[in-house]
Amino acid sequence: MDKQKRIPLYQALLKHTAQKPISFHVPGHKNGKVLPEQAKNQFQQLLQLDVTELSGLDDLHAPQGAIKEAEDLLAELYQVQKSFFLVNGSTVGNLAMILAAVKEDEMVLVQRNCHKSVLNALKLAKAHPVFLEPEFNQEWGVSTGVSLETVKEAVYRFPEVKAIILTYPNYYGMVYDLGALINHAHLHNIPVLVDEAHGPHFILGNPFPASAVELGADIVVQSAHKTLPALTMGSFLHINSSRIKSTKVKEFLQILQSSSPSYLIMASLDLVRSYLAQYNQKDVQYLIKQISEFKEQLNEIQSIEVLSFPNSDGDLLRVTIQSKCHLSGFDLQQRLEKAGIYTELADPENVLFVIPLLKNNRQFPLNEALMKIKSALGDIPAAPKKLDFQLSPERITELAIGYKQMLSCENEEVPIIESAGRVCAEMVIPYPPGIPLLLTGERVTEQKLRQLIRLIESGARFQGGDALDRGMICIFKTE
Ligand SMILES: Cc1ncc(COP(=O)(O)O)c(C=O)c1O
Repeated sequence: MDKQKRIPLYQALLKHTAQKPISFHVPGHKNGKVLPEQAKNQFQQLLQLDVTELSGLDDLHAPQGAIKEAEDLLAELYQVQKSFFLVNGSTVGNLAMILAAVKEDEMVLVQRNCHKSVLNALKLAKAHPVFLEPEFNQEWGVSTGVSLETVKEAVYRFPEVKAIILTYPNYYGMVYDLGALINHAHLHNIPVLVDEAHGPHFILGNPFPASAVELGADIVVQSAHKTLPALTMGSFLHINSSRIKSTKVKEFLQILQSSSPSYLIMASLDLVRSYLAQYNQKDVQYLIKQISEFKEQLNEIQSIEVLSFPNSDGDLLRVTIQSKCHLSGFDLQQRLEKAGIYTELADPENVLFVIPLLKNNRQFPLNEALMKIKSALGDIPAAPKKLDFQLSPERITELAIGYKQMLSCENEEVPIIESAGRVCAEMVIPYPPGIPLLLTGERVTEQKLRQLIRLIESGARFQGGDALDRGMICIFKTE
């Protein structure tokens, strides 16, 4: 583990800066010396490290020096065959792993509640997705993971599939028996690609759920920036088997990632890998204590309840509160924002807090936050609520119009309330979490329509669906 204390890329950058180099290269801010006046104080120091592929600083697309060493240390920590630094989020990791695994017209099983980047990758590949409906937790009001039965049935019906693409954990930190799904897929020699955007810290083991890497997934993508103290967009991709060639993944990463990757992001990935590797039992105990006290105090507020993970298995860093009053999750979130508390996400029932991976005795203003939360939500009377969700009866579905066919289809706008039975011509994505409610090429069912109306009425924000605020939705003309 001593080796994991090394931070080769960060050190290479410090060594470069120590020479007080005069820059006649890109970027144009010249090590932070030339900056718009307003940004000088904030940016100057940090931008000394925002350099480019100079001597001694290696090259992300052909690593041989400090970046190679940093990526090798990452692979060693996760005990995988190969790891890549990503500078464009899990988004680029999902695109690269899927494009490497699936070609035009090939079938692939996909967990339906996936991030839009997974669907964009399938569209780019012109693949033929078969969607697996996840289970639904009635108490939380959210979709979780796919059941083994669904995977078994899908593999039986579509034995020719080239891969299974799963998301683990869900946005709320909920997990499922991923190991059983992977084992079943591997029995049929089907590679399993896992979007573990929210779980890079699971490698720490208990009290965190098992990590997709340990469970044997073939490729795993993780947003280091979501739960580790990394810069936004900093992410990892791990190759954990030979079922899909790592050279193919590398080829797509070279196509999709910038030829000028950010050294700040890469250095922060090097630093958080070392941070994670040195996270010890004392840190874990401190974190557990901080979070349980936070939850206990939250539970004293009558208008909300802190949700517990089914079977106590879920991500410790995620704290979900559910409305127990007349307000929606979106309303609660707005009240919190007025009090200076900014949360990760709201849905019609819940608000999600993401807690940092604190090291022992590291301060984070949880008590100050509690005071503000109590003053924002404390005076709202409790009101009994009955959550009642309609579930999709179909476990396995396909697009009504495939990615190739839709290229020659025309669109039109129709009133949302008249869209049931038609085929959607855009992705309608409540954001966050960025999981499409409706897919391009998917038929609008009565149940999806009700869900959409419920979200609009409760104040959700959307990406795609530009006409929603005019009460319209874009659908395909054909049929
Ligand atoms: C499950 C999941 N996958 C992938 C992504 C994309 O990650 P990134 O923002 O790192 O590109 C997100 C982002 O929220 C996500 O929730």
